[in-house]
Amino acid sequence: MLNKVFSNFQNKINLLFNNTNNPGRMFSLDLHSHLIAGVDDGVETIDESIEIILELKKLGVFNIITTPHIKQERYPNSSMQIKCGLGLLRKELNRRKIKIRIDVAAEYYADEYFLELLLKRDIMTFGESYVLFELSYKHCPSNLEEIIDAIKEAGYIPVLAHPERYLYMLENFHLYHMMKDKGVYFQLNINSLSGYYSPKARKIAKTLLKKDMIEFVGSDTHKMKHLEALKQTVNTRQFKRLFNSGKILNNALICPGSSS
Ligand SMILES: [Fe+2]
Repeated sequence: MLNKVFSNFQNKINLLFNNTNNPGRMFSLDLHSHLIAGVDDGVETIDESIEIILELKKLGVFNIITTPHIKQERYPNSSMQIKCGLGLLRKELNRRKIKIRIDVAAEYYADEYFLELLLKRDIMTFGESYVLFELSYKHCPSNLEEIIDAIKEAGYIPVLAHPERYLYMLENFHLYHMMKDKGVYFQLNINSLSGYYSPKARKIAKTLLKKDMIEFVGSDTHKMKHLEALKQTVNTRQFKRLFNSGKILNNALICPGSSS
């Protein structure tokens, strides 16, 4: 009798946390990383990029949309440069017979350069027309609403990278609601769930999740150290529960024909 009760309980747990034996399987598409060599503060060489891609594969990721920084002051990358870097990376992956789908978008810093690119429609998107953008970690831009409007007027869907990392928003939570009202999607950094960045970022992440304000998750992998932390986080009950909630849209972006 006790055995039966335990077995039923175990089945329910397995259903609840689907893929218990292989937790990474549910995280199949990563849409935030810095894996184009030498264009930002991410990987420096193609070898480093490949090393990280192989680890992501082990976690179950078989579709990567990598997102180099584009920021006027530090990383004034052009679409052409980034696509060129993707070409080199794909070539090396092919040479080594590593099977993975890798595409490129960008993480746009909300500055004047971004507004110029929006006017020119020179924007690298993911999915249908999602644009990943980031803000200053120090202060909220005074023209945040205009930036969001500019993205939408150019015909794109704004996706804010790691909303939980803008700590000044904890005391100004209305800004998150304002962005939601304007149709901004939020992409959580998975490592925020374990407090990797800071306890405060973790607190904001939890609040945003509780309020159902997160649509996408990403690894934001720059270096192998991020991946080491990620391996721990994807094994947490909290991450499994989040991914199985049906609210996360990552897997809806998987390109047909991609496979593990
Ligand atoms: Fe990033």
